[in-house]
Amino acid sequence: MTASQIIEKYIKFFESRDHIRIPNSSLVPENDPTTLFTSSGMQPLVLYLLGGKHPAGKRLVNVQNCFRAQDIEEIGDNRHTTFFRMLGNWSLGKPASQKTTSRGGYFKAEQIPWLWEFLTDRLKLPVEKLYVTIFNGFNDIEKDNESYEIWKEIFEKAGLDAREKISFYGVDKNWWSRAGLPQNMPAGEPGGPDTEIFFDFETEHDKKFGQKCHTNCDCGRYLEIGNSVFMQYQKKSDGSFVELPQKNVDFGGGLERLLAATENQNDIFQTSLLSPVIKTIEKITRKTYDENKEKIRIIADHFVASSFIISAGVIPSNKEQGYILRRLLRRSLDSLFQLESSDISPIIKIIVEQYKNTDGKLAKDFEKIKNVILEEQQSYNQTQKKAKEFMHKKYPPLPAGPLRSEASRKVGDELMGISKISAEDAFILYSTHGLSPSQIKSLGYTFDDRAFANKMEEHQKLSREGAAQKFAGGLADTNTQTIMGHTATHLLHQAIRDVLGDHIHQAGSNITSQRVRFDFNYDKALTEEEVKKIEEIINKKIKENLPVHFEMLPLEKAKDIGAIGLFDEKYEDNVKVYFIGGSTSSPQEAYSKEFCGGPHVNFTGELKRFTIFKQENLGRGLRRIYANV
Ligand code: ALA
Repeated sequence: MTASQIIEKYIKFFESRDHIRIPNSSLVPENDPTTLFTSSGMQPLVLYLLGGKHPAGKRLVNVQNCFRAQDIEEIGDNRHTTFFRMLGNWSLGKPASQKTTSRGGYFKAEQIPWLWEFLTDRLKLPVEKLYVTIFNGFNDIEKDNESYEIWKEIFEKAGLDAREKISFYGVDKNWWSRAGLPQNMPAGEPGGPDTEIFFDFETEHDKKFGQKCHTNCDCGRYLEIGNSVFMQYQKKSDGSFVELPQKNVDFGGGLERLLAATENQNDIFQTSLLSPVIKTIEKITRKTYDENKEKIRIIADHFVASSFIISAGVIPSNKEQGYILRRLLRRSLDSLFQLESSDISPIIKIIVEQYKNTDGKLAKDFEKIKNVILEEQQSYNQTQKKAKEFMHKKYPPLPAGPLRSEASRKVGDELMGISKISAEDAFILYSTHGLSPSQIKSLGYTFDDRAFANKMEEHQKLSREGAAQKFAGGLADTNTQTIMGHTATHLLHQAIRDVLGDHIHQAGSNITSQRVRFDFNYDKALTEEEVKKIEEIINKKIKENLPVHFEMLPLEKAKDIGAIGLFDEKYEDNVKVYFIGGSTSSPQEAYSKEFCGGPHVNFTGELKRFTIFKQENLGRGLRRIYANV
């Protein structure tokens, strides 16, 4: 079974249970300042898990491209990848009557047996290889006995001993939220207990991970292939938890892991999806996978992730998504260099080939991906050169001869040509020149790892505090400034069309609490006069204090009344249209009518002054505007 066949079966399975397929959202989240990448299928759905009405209804299914930057350092084992596709299904709220109706919400009694049926009947995973874990309770939140009873019945029906198959764990393993553990969740964040399903590869236990193996052991014997989160709680500002108005199901299963299970292949990099990539790397480096597993896995994983990130419009830089991309590329270029190769094109080519059935855009972007990586390779070479010059000035090369070996012995290095540098200087190379510890070492320098780690920890503590502050600023959908940004984007979209013509449409947007970013199809710089006109129109609309409201409309009706926006999503019947002024009965009175999930301000007067402060050419006939509101 191929990865695309698994996707097909999964979508079909849930569509036949009245789920509507929703699109794969961009890997770089739109309008969400709290996170750099989409890292789970639920991320674009937070608003609806909290109670908002989703235009496609209560039952949703999709395949979401995900990237988890926090896993970068974990790459190298048999099962972690930073990029993966998540098969997801959701129930947005179980009805209060607790009766499940077709198209209505559902909960544990449906989710667990459906998942079992999908895995054992559609994917034909052998029942004896499956194990599950359940939530054991935490403070006032009860142990999940309901899931236990459901799983017990399923295992007993299959002739298996439920006591062997089911294990209970605490919050560290069976609680899920975007922020992880309950204590790490910011106020307002939804989360809940989960039940996870594991596939047993029956490999030998590695005692490094504990005396005894168990279902959620990290030794690699058991692979988590699916997670049903019962998202029914929300954290309050006093740290306690309240029940959400609705009980949701949020399921996620990693496609690459499901493929590994169907192939009974405990090394994700050896599945039919990734093994051709590994073979290509072996070929160009003329090194074997068996002897260089970690490096080759890093190259494969990081190039796959980088290809998708570049295809989503990111280029390497020292900030945000661009910085993560740079880290990924430099890490993989280092590994490639250590295997004595720098030939990247065949790797990108095979990646595109392997993913093209499900991600056609990657194939279209082949040249772009290749060029971005080649440019980064050059820029990395330059950086390394500069870093070396800096170091040579500080640490002039030791003259050859007895003095050198004496000095070498003193610093504990026997290798010729290696210079021990101070942790401070290593940190300068890290923070100023952008080199990671392994990159610094690959230049031939050694330093006190512990002293460096201390410096890093200090630095990370500072940036964690910064990030926590950013998160504490509120979730994307509840932050007042961001909500204002949403409404400003609608005004901007319409005002640009007023000034430049109706052929202009939005190509993307990104809103943070600091600014609004808006992309549109236009191949020239806006003149000063045009910028001024746009600002004037918007500030006039703000002054008029127009009401903002939404209506759910059939797609055709929405188009008829002239609603604009990005609406290539396949919602079945009703779409949400935001009106600024006017309504469906008087659409001509509306200044703006646009497809959107919201949220928005209630009146335009809640916005402050709108100013455009920067514009950029994005190439390919696209222009970008930055504005404050
Ligand atoms: N949101 C859950 C996860 O990412 C399903 O594991």
